[in-house]
Amino acid sequence: MNDRKNSQSLDTLFAQAGGTIDPQTGGVVPPIQSATTFVRDENNIPLSPDHIYARDDNDLTRLGEDLLAQAEHGEDGILLPSGMAAVASVMRTVPNGGCIIMQLGIYWGATRFVRDFCERRDVELIEVDCSDVDALKAVAKPANVLWIETPSNPYLKIVDIEACAEIASDIGASLVVDSTAATPVLSQPLDFGADIVMHSATKGINGHSDVLAGFLACRDAGSDLWEAIKTDRNSAGAVMGSFEAWLLIRGMRTMPLRVERMCESAMKVAKFLEQHEKVETVLYPGLESDPGHALAKKQMPGGFGGLLSFQVNGAGVEALTAIGKLKLFKRATSLGGVESLVEHRHTIENTVPENLLRLSVGIENADDLIADLGNALG
Ligand SMILES: Cc1ncc(COP(=O)(O)O)c(C=O)c1O
Repeated sequence: MNDRKNSQSLDTLFAQAGGTIDPQTGGVVPPIQSATTFVRDENNIPLSPDHIYARDDNDLTRLGEDLLAQAEHGEDGILLPSGMAAVASVMRTVPNGGCIIMQLGIYWGATRFVRDFCERRDVELIEVDCSDVDALKAVAKPANVLWIETPSNPYLKIVDIEACAEIASDIGASLVVDSTAATPVLSQPLDFGADIVMHSATKGINGHSDVLAGFLACRDAGSDLWEAIKTDRNSAGAVMGSFEAWLLIRGMRTMPLRVERMCESAMKVAKFLEQHEKVETVLYPGLESDPGHALAKKQMPGGFGGLLSFQVNGAGVEALTAIGKLKLFKRATSLGGVESLVEHRHTIENTVPENLLRLSVGIENADDLIADLGNALG
């Protein structure tokens, strides 16, 4: 368990992977422990009390969890094999007949899962645009979980975490924040009153598009909710393997540096698109014209992230023509990796406007990215 708000800067914490030195060799990176089981001595006592079976305890997973929990100012944290496994483990704590209030217009996979889950488990589901606090207040009623995502994917809406925490406390709900697009570098939702912060660590935390991972951190490690989540993770076996944990930690060592660069470049790209004649709207909280800008400045003091969306003048055909001409931006789903990606979300999620393109800005040279976009937009 961590002390909330460690004073060490994130750059130092992550660059040194929490100061890890392999005690056997003095190696400056942790070794991979591949064993899934560990022996006991002739008296049946484990040789090492923390090593019995890999589903219960894994040094590398624990190291990754400690690093991320510290960065999130959480008392404790757990890694899971994907972001969706993290979403599911929170939802599974809601009893049959309970109630979930969930933000409308968030990551489609989470929406789809929760809708299906609620139907199967007879859980009431209320979906509402939580970036509109009055709209949320209007539908709020006693619930188990209030689930928000900020910035939201793909609309980049900013949700007032403090206001939601107040509402959650009034209705007896736990506030859970999907902070994937912010990464732990830019925002610490627990400081604004969230009970749990969630990440798809597949994205900016790993940053190299080569590991699936999910993460949850809590404000109060003694809460019943946290106990239930941890027990569920272990009993249901939603644990991460050593190799993935090792890759994730390697990715995290450069996270603050990568995120800083992505924020800088995304801002340049957003400004370029904002003045482009073929662009109708740019959705990016870093722009002063964005409705969420002031709140984002408060909740994301380190920057506004590498994710943005824009709407091309015209209809779907114009957007698809532009996306087809991009050379540097790879046409692929996901976000937060070092390589820039572009996605036409409408292709998989038909409620998203046909002319919207979502960009995940990587760490390439910003001028090169802008030239690529300029060329594609003609
Ligand atoms: C905001 C957000 N939350 C959760 C997820 C799910 O994470 P994963 O793909 O690691 O299961 C995603 C994936 O795109 C996401 O963008």
